[in-house]
Amino acid sequence: MFQSRITGLGYYVPDNVVTNDDLSKIIDTNDEWIVERTGINERRHVVKGEDTTTSMGVKAAKIAIERAGISKDDIDFIVFATISPEYYFPGPGVMVQRDLGIKTIGALDVRNQCSGFLYAISVADQYIKTGMYKNILVIGSEVQSTGLDMTTRGRSVSVIFGDGAGAAILSRSETEGTGILSTHLHAEGAHAEELTVLAPGMGKRWVTDIIKDNDPDDVSYFPYMNGQFVFKNAVVRFSEVIKEGLEANQLEVKDIDMLIPHQANLRISQFIQNKFGLSDDQVFNNIQKYGNTTAASIPIALTEAWEAGRIKSGDLVVLAAFGSGFTWASAVIRW
Ligand code: UT7
Repeated sequence: MFQSRITGLGYYVPDNVVTNDDLSKIIDTNDEWIVERTGINERRHVVKGEDTTTSMGVKAAKIAIERAGISKDDIDFIVFATISPEYYFPGPGVMVQRDLGIKTIGALDVRNQCSGFLYAISVADQYIKTGMYKNILVIGSEVQSTGLDMTTRGRSVSVIFGDGAGAAILSRSETEGTGILSTHLHAEGAHAEELTVLAPGMGKRWVTDIIKDNDPDDVSYFPYMNGQFVFKNAVVRFSEVIKEGLEANQLEVKDIDMLIPHQANLRISQFIQNKFGLSDDQVFNNIQKYGNTTAASIPIALTEAWEAGRIKSGDLVVLAAFGSGFTWASAVIRW
């Protein structure tokens, strides 16, 4: 049986920094509220004409490919996780293949929102374990800022989200007990409408209705979140899925060298850290700088933690996510 290892990591965020004070100039909010409730100080927003979900993914991918010590021609498959594709279809996976000039390998798009990157990693891991592919490019990239309700009406959501991309190369390894030890995926569609963008969606609206209505008060294009309900579910599911990953590998909380939670809210990460009794050295957060970048948040954080020397060979790294769907997931990795 083959193992898969993460052999290269990269991230890219747009240069345009948007602080809490910047937001307070266009919507009724303030730095104190945002920092106290979410821990976020600033986030990045794309500038029109400069970055797209695909182009950011490509920039992150180029770094990951170089660090993996492979060429683009060694990549066998692409998995791209996003909830913010530039086109309704096709998804960005095929455009990454085009823009990197890769031969006609398969390209798969994954949704799964904040858990998207871990779902994508899980898919890639299975293809490597079965021996079907040797090197897989996995990307999480999001342009959220262009789809947010940047008025006071949307403030509880719009201050949270940011743009960016992260990428990883998963490669075949034959060293047992290293690399991705296991992944754990969950969904609870009963709460699908608690964190959602309803439109465009073929089941929700007919295009002819949209053209006819042209309703300025139609909020179905903006993200809706039942914040407190999502928060309460997040802390429970994060805990469960981390424990599930540890137990599956006969490991304990004390074995964790680095926990990287999806960056949804610093208060959620701190709750989990306290619950498990982890020190500051054992948890990595960067939501302060980037906000919640959905499918990009884990690969950006993983890359930054690795670049900072906080993940070393032999470390036990646990990744965990929770988000819209609801979906949640974890990955347990021996680096
Ligand atoms: O990534 C996927 C998973 N996502 C999450 O896990 C997010 C989970 N939820 C949360 O992080 C929090 O629920 C939020 C940060 C979204 C909101 O925090 P909250 O403590 O739940 O606030 P709230 O929505 O209950 O709003 C409290 C008050 C309200 O005012 P009143 O009704 O008490 O007068 C809001 O109108 O805060 C007001 N408010 C704001 N005030 C200033 C909401 N948004 C803002 C804002 N600035 N941006």
